Amino acid sequence: MMSDELLIVDSIKKYFPLRTGLGQPKQWLKAVDGVSFAVKRNKVFAIVGESGCGKSTVARMILKLLTPTDGNIYFKGHNTSGFDRHAIKEFRQSVQIVFQDPFASLNPRMRVIDTLSEPIKIHKLAPKNEIKNKVVHLLKMVGLTEDALNRYPHEFSGGQRQRICIARALTVSPELIVADEPLSALDVSIQAQILNLLQDIKRESAISMIFISHDLKVVHYISDEVAVMYMGKIVEMADTEDLFTSPKHPYTKLLLSSAPKIRVKEARVASQESKLKKPNSKLMTDVPTPVNIPLGCSFHPRCPEKFDPCDSSTPELKNLNGRLVACHRY
Ligand SMILES: Nc1ncnc2c1ncn2[C@@H]1O[C@H](COP(=O)(O)OP(=O)(O)OP(=O)(O)O)[C@@H](O)[C@H]1O
Ligand SMILES: [Mg+2]
Repeated sequence: MMSDELLIVDSIKKYFPLRTGLGQPKQWLKAVDGVSFAVKRNKVFAIVGESGCGKSTVARMILKLLTPTDGNIYFKGHNTSGFDRHAIKEFRQSVQIVFQDPFASLNPRMRVIDTLSEPIKIHKLAPKNEIKNKVVHLLKMVGLTEDALNRYPHEFSGGQRQRICIARALTVSPELIVADEPLSALDVSIQAQILNLLQDIKRESAISMIFISHDLKVVHYISDEVAVMYMGKIVEMADTEDLFTSPKHPYTKLLLSSAPKIRVKEARVASQESKLKKPNSKLMTDVPTPVNIPLGCSFHPRCPEKFDPCDSSTPELKNLNGRLVACHRY
């Protein structure tokens, strides 16, 4: 029987070396520090958390764009670190990415027909005389029409460009799509349309998805399971409905309170709050970074529920009625 789990991420870490002065001890930025989860077939797995918590680094390790410092990633039971050239080519077909910025990820000098037929040619997925039909079919799937074929990326709106990127991901009939903040560069009015499109794709094709976002509303709508990340670690992981009906980790609760209203004394906490709403703001100067991770639970300086052990001992992820929570309260 085919395993239910398409992708298994096992205790992956990514430490980036920091430039330190001569004679200073080597320092590491622990961008991802022991993350494990599994993505099931035909399911959407969401990763949520504030800017800098390590979401994209996890995605880049899964996509083999970055080598983990430690840990393993298995795709259909095979360790991706051991792939030879042939296996990598197959993997690059099976796993596709949709990025945040649909403009930067399209070649401005390529017409839509070329952008969409290129992967079909590379992977020899259709005979030459059928490529155009296939491309038109894909365009229709993402809500565009045939007259897009001979146009260039700049002739489209942001939402339309993201549709083109999604169509490009679909050209190779992938088994897994990694969508890293696919909505955050789009106008709010367009976000719902693209979300509906992804929802349709999920329903109609046998595809798994890793959906990365800082927006919990979006995640609620599209995902089956959610992992909440904080400073390089998963602090809570649960079925989406469970997570939304009864969040356990204080950080999850903070993310869920639609307008975070924690009373903040320290400016750095306030700046991180505003970062939550505006992911691109540059207010992060004094926020704890994955370089100086607080002792004990890394969330304790912001936690309204902290008590004795929190500033000295690190909570492990514990199983709590079928979900995982890393908090001394449980
Ligand atoms: N190549 C790199 N070299 C050094 N540090 C890096 C590198 N890539 C990422 N980092 C750092 O690792 C941490 C995690 O970054 P990452 O991009 O994974 O966060 P993220 O959760 O995707 O954030 P965002 O929501 O802003 O996209 C950050 O502190 C970032 O500065
Ligand atoms: Mg990111």
